[in-house]
Amino acid sequence: MKQKDKVLLLIFSGTGNTLTVGNMIAEHFGEKGFITDIIEIGNPFPKIENIEDYRFIGFGYPVHAFNIPKIYRRLIAYLPNTSETSAFIFKTSGEPFLLNSASSYILTKKLKRKGYKVLSDTHFLMPYNIIFRYPDRAVKAMVNYGETLSKILVNNLLNGKQELIKYKRRYRLISTVFRIQYLGATINGLLIKVRRKKCNKCLRCLKNCPTGNIFIKDGKIKFSSKCTMCMRCAMMCPNDAIKIGFLNRWKVNGKYDFTQILANDSIEDGFFSEQHTDFFRYFKKYYNELDNKIIQAKLRS
Ligand SMILES: Cc1cc2nc3c(=O)[nH]c(=O)nc-3n(C[C@H](O)[C@H](O)[C@H](O)COP(=O)(O)O)c2cc1C
Ligand code: SF4
Ligand code: SF4
Repeated sequence: MKQKDKVLLLIFSGTGNTLTVGNMIAEHFGEKGFITDIIEIGNPFPKIENIEDYRFIGFGYPVHAFNIPKIYRRLIAYLPNTSETSAFIFKTSGEPFLLNSASSYILTKKLKRKGYKVLSDTHFLMPYNIIFRYPDRAVKAMVNYGETLSKILVNNLLNGKQELIKYKRRYRLISTVFRIQYLGATINGLLIKVRRKKCNKCLRCLKNCPTGNIFIKDGKIKFSSKCTMCMRCAMMCPNDAIKIGFLNRWKVNGKYDFTQILANDSIEDGFFSEQHTDFFRYFKKYYNELDNKIIQAKLRS
């Protein structure tokens, strides 16, 4: 029989953003008396069982080139069929562009085909783990907003409020073209190199690669074709020793320390309520809409 107080989150998170959001969701379910199991998709690939025990299954992933990450396709393939299990999607991305919404089109379709009842699809903005590092003020605001959005998401699920999105045809088309990234990840995996002079052989990259793409041969760190282009190895290397193939110019080295950024009072909040003329001007619409949602949810007056 289905337990009414259990939630399962199936998360892939390359560099920690999506996992951070997943933990927020778990915390809010916890406040409502639910127990949340989190399964991270990685190496070895986890077994997904006893789906029917859960009241809700949450599917969390970072947007990769307007699609789900390569490794997440494997999750869909292995996911057991069910009958009417309630599901929700939460995705994180660095940009607010609506094109990112198309990333969950195939996922939603396949979940429905496998018998899941998809109730909502929520887009969280989190800092870029590729292209450039977001300033601490932006990071603080994003995480604070994410915290409130995750609360709204949980409340809506428990109140039976559905929040699905329309996948516009032109976005679906563009996201289809960008599926070339799956081949790109395979090729890029083979191009990743370690700068031997910088590397101290701590093996953090090898131990943490979610696809087992990193191995040692003749005492050297090598990469193969199983890469999912998550940027984890490049971001977490303590010596910035990894050249991440053709994405190297877009490398962000060093994890975002959310706990430290949130606790640091000298980093002011309110970044997105200010006027921006740079890249961050594109975030205005997303955060205006979220502000309205927060007011409607009576979480702020
Ligand atoms: C290969 C790759 C492709 C990405 N493509 C997009 C994208 O299409 N749109 C976007 O807004 N962010 C994109 N990003 C940024 C991530 O979606 C974003 O930083 C996300 O929160 C990372 O989550 P994670 O830490 O859980 O891996 C991309 C990141 C990577 C590594
Ligand atoms: S994480 Fe960096 S320093 Fe450590 S083994 Fe890998 S490449 Fe070398
Ligand atoms: S090699 Fe690096 S970028 Fe590729 S999957 Fe492993 S950790 Fe991610």
